[in-house]
Amino acid sequence: EEKLQADNEYPLLDAHKVQHASFVKAVNELKDMLDEEEGPSEAFVEAVKKNIVEWLLNHICVWDKQVAQFIKEK
Ligand SMILES: [Fe+2]
Repeated sequence: EEKLQADNEYPLLDAHKVQHASFVKAVNELKDMLDEEEGPSEAFVEAVKKNIVEWLLNHICVWDKQVAQFIKEK
């Protein structure tokens, strides 16, 4: 996705990369949490919902949609 943005000279690429990096960080933190708790606790499930599910919905509906619109208009 980042390559697609770069290839199309998307002006918000750097900000978009920051969004992706924060997602990767959240996934790594959840992995650590899962390892430390030796299984999915209630807190872990809540953290997945907040940091993964909600993030993905927002990111796709807002950030990725803007990319699609930019490329479509180009
Ligand atoms: Fe994205």
